[in-house]
Amino acid sequence: MGTSEEFSVPQRALEGSMRDFRVQKGPDLIGRCEAFYEWQDVRRQCGTWPFSRSTEKGPSASCAVRDDRGILAEGVNFASQDYLSLSSHPAVAAAAKAAIDDMGVHSAGSPALVGNTSTSIGLDQQLADFVQMREAILYPTGWAAGFGVIKGLVRDHDYILIDALAHACLQVGAAAATRNVVPFRHLNVDDARKKITAIRSANPDAGILIVTEGLFSMDSDVPDISAFQTLARQYGALLVVDVAHDLGNLGPGGTGHIGAQGMLGQVDLIMGSFSKTFGSNGGFVATDNRAVKEYLRFYSPSCTFSNALSPAQVATIAKALEIVRSEEGQVLREKLMSNVLSLREQIRNRGMEFYGDPSAIVAVKTGAEALARLTARELPALGLLANLVEFPAVAKGQARFRLQVMAGHTADEIEAAAASMEAGMKLAALQLEERVSPVFLAKAS
Ligand SMILES: Cc1ncc(COP(=O)(O)O)c(C=O)c1O
Repeated sequence: MGTSEEFSVPQRALEGSMRDFRVQKGPDLIGRCEAFYEWQDVRRQCGTWPFSRSTEKGPSASCAVRDDRGILAEGVNFASQDYLSLSSHPAVAAAAKAAIDDMGVHSAGSPALVGNTSTSIGLDQQLADFVQMREAILYPTGWAAGFGVIKGLVRDHDYILIDALAHACLQVGAAAATRNVVPFRHLNVDDARKKITAIRSANPDAGILIVTEGLFSMDSDVPDISAFQTLARQYGALLVVDVAHDLGNLGPGGTGHIGAQGMLGQVDLIMGSFSKTFGSNGGFVATDNRAVKEYLRFYSPSCTFSNALSPAQVATIAKALEIVRSEEGQVLREKLMSNVLSLREQIRNRGMEFYGDPSAIVAVKTGAEALARLTARELPALGLLANLVEFPAVAKGQARFRLQVMAGHTADEIEAAAASMEAGMKLAALQLEERVSPVFLAKAS
């Protein structure tokens, strides 16, 4: 356990958000960074900046983490995205080591040149089989895949209809591809229909890409994938679904919400990441069409102009995928879901609320940033490693702690997480009350 924070918290550390520093004027590009740094440092010094932390020995279910002041804390780890605990699986580590012995450490080239290896070509196909599509193409990260699939296919005269809460890689990819980006209300098929009707009638010749996720990573909620695919077909549009958080750890055989909704092999494009369930950096796009795969390889800049996955990354992902598809994978998914349900129940029983449907993401509501930041300051000493989420990852006033559950968490670790979360929020609420009490205000003035 870390030591309790001794520093007092200036009001400035509880106010403002990263939004305040996003757009700044003036010619001095370096100077513009200063105001953010000054605000961040106020937060850092008083322990309300729980970002940029490092694990001492990797992201295990309980571990030691150093914050960016260098202060060490130990506790149960609900801050890592290793949902089936495969990053510490002995067979996965052995596969990565063997790949280094066989093929060295570097792919040394783009997938459009000679960056592919015999194993990465095999992984393409295994992945395509897993999601029941004909083709898959690998990217260096999930972010690169999300950005790249959109930027690769959409041109400036085309339109993008995108869920308002879609991940940054999708939003940034959309903005880079065209000015015609139309957000629809989160999960709302009717709103998307209204918007696509207007777009199509005014632009009969434009391409339209509809963008959503299989499981939303901050809210743990799920779209009606079939309804979005039907909408896309009706209007001559294409649907892409980002399955970064559900593929491998949810749904029948680990096929995520696409599988759970009976849509395997029926979605136009699937885009995913290996960084949550498959133990490695990396991402992919799956399609039924070889022409799309080849087009993306040469027109998706985050694939064409970026180095291919290294042999160790490919071997890690391939072994993780093999486990995901095995009996052992099923057992791990069941363990994960039982941990998820237990954590949700304990959070609820302790009087706290969370967002969304059961998934490895249990996002505990705090709402006000001040309460959330004071809670974040208490958690290391209470032995809980959890990520504070605030703007820009979620809207202002909707801060939360995103607890990410692993199959490898024990019942004791789940209980400890719920208890520490409650204790942290209670302490923070008391501190907030004190701050607005007449005694505190008199002392402060
Ligand atoms: C929904 C979603 N898509 C894509 C990504 C990017 O994945 P990666 O970490 O592999 O770059 C993330 C990761 O945060 C995500 O949450």
